[in-house]
Amino acid sequence: MAKEELAKLLNQALELEHGARIQYLSHAEIVDGPDAEAIIARLKEIAGDEKNHEDTFRELIGSYLDGVPSRGMAPTQAARTVEEILEVNIAGEKHAVDVYLGILKEINEMKGELKYEYFQLEHGVRHVIQEEQEHIAELKLLLGSR
Ligand SMILES: [Fe+2]
Ligand SMILES: [Fe+2]
Repeated sequence: MAKEELAKLLNQALELEHGARIQYLSHAEIVDGPDAEAIIARLKEIAGDEKNHEDTFRELIGSYLDGVPSRGMAPTQAARTVEEILEVNIAGEKHAVDVYLGILKEINEMKGELKYEYFQLEHGVRHVIQEEQEHIAELKLLLGSR
C-alpha cells in the first residue's frame, strides 16, 4: 500500500472520530433517570477522548503522511433510552476497533517503507485502539449496572 492510501484510511478513521464525538455529546444531552449525572459525565469524558483521537489522526495524516486531514464526518446513530445509547455506542466502538486494527495491520506491512514514520504511526494507532477498548469496557459496565 502507498502512503497516500494509508492517509486515506486514516482519514476514514478521522471521520469516525468526528462522528463519535458528536454522537456522544448529543446522547449526553438526552440522558435522564436516576443515574443520569454519572452517565452524562462518562459520555462527555469519552467525547473528550475522541477529540484527542481526532488530534492524533490529524497529526499522523498531515505531519507524517503529507495528507490533508478530512473535515468530513461518518454517519451517526440516533438513540432514545439510556440502554439504546449504551448499546449503540458499544457497537460504534467495536466498529472503530475493527477498522483501526485493519489500519494497524497495513502500517505493520509497510514498516520497511515507513522508516521515518513507522513508530509514530504504529504507536498513535495502537494507543487509540487501547482507549477504544477502555471505552467498550466502561460502557459495558454502565449497561450491566442497569
Ligand atoms: Fe476514538
Ligand atoms: Fe471511543
